[in-house]
Amino acid sequence: MSTWERPTPGVYGSSEGADVRHFLDVDDLTSAELAAVLDVATEFKADHAENGVHDRFDGRTLGMIFQKPSTRTRVSFETGMTQLGGHAIFLGESDIQLGHGEPLRDTSRALSRYVDALMARVFKHANAVELARYADVPVINGLTDDAHPCQTLADLLTIRERHGGFEGVSAAWVGDGNNVAQSFVLGCALTEVDLTVATPAGYGIDDPVVERARELGGDPTVTTDPVEAVTDADVVYTDVWVSMGQEDERDVRMQDFEGFQVNRELLAHAPEASVMHCLPAHRGEEITDDVLERDRAIVWDQAANRLHAQKGLLVWLDEQR
Ligand code: CP
Ligand code: NVA
Repeated sequence: MSTWERPTPGVYGSSEGADVRHFLDVDDLTSAELAAVLDVATEFKADHAENGVHDRFDGRTLGMIFQKPSTRTRVSFETGMTQLGGHAIFLGESDIQLGHGEPLRDTSRALSRYVDALMARVFKHANAVELARYADVPVINGLTDDAHPCQTLADLLTIRERHGGFEGVSAAWVGDGNNVAQSFVLGCALTEVDLTVATPAGYGIDDPVVERARELGGDPTVTTDPVEAVTDADVVYTDVWVSMGQEDERDVRMQDFEGFQVNRELLAHAPEASVMHCLPAHRGEEITDDVLERDRAIVWDQAANRLHAQKGLLVWLDEQR
């Protein structure tokens, strides 16, 4: 659990005076806007299947700053821009002046003058906010220590496809109350998915996130009992116990998360549940190999929907300008 100060959603200011929508966490969108993004995603997903590449972003560029590694986020954004007729540039921290002491705000102001949107995967959430404050193009959070909203978009798209909507869907989060969990909590609040979160004591969702979920009309149940969380759930979701940047805590975390593994025994309490994981998975830790390889795991649909959900987001953000 970190002690970050949650910024006011949607209010990141702009030193450049630009009136731009950013996407730093799921609750930067209202419930209706979130539904609209998912609708655009669905529309473009069908369009791509039928017609192939689109020319919507002809001549346009997405800059992608990465301070942490990535497979899905990098490739889905890059491919998404290509499929929309545009282009994406990978900017690894050590390859740009940011990694050699140039301040974030200067990086943001300079890049804003070239690219049409920025995506950033950074450690501190405050750094994503800083980028947005100095950008006059939309900034999209591609994961911070505290939030992973693009993952939630894909997760919600996957749930909506499988259940035909969100009404009556119940979800259980089991494991660490980490970045993926926190954005999922907000996404469930906005879509009225009934959510129970089971984490070991001391690894729960940060209080400001739970409060924000309640403000949005959600009512997440918080427990330390994985069995209580998964019983009769439609969806059981987990993620790694050691996130990027927490490697020093590995030994203690392995002990603290004992009993929180998503395995056959736990899933016996949720016979109908689909199993979700944002990936990458650490088989044998938070989830067993056999669960991940069984039909009820919908992790590959989630991974595929990163591409479609983010295309929906990029197009929707462009429509707001
Ligand atoms: N789920 C996810 O964000 O994966 P990557 O770290 O591979 O981008
Ligand atoms: N919680 C994980 C998610 C990776 C996509 C991490 O931050 O490392």
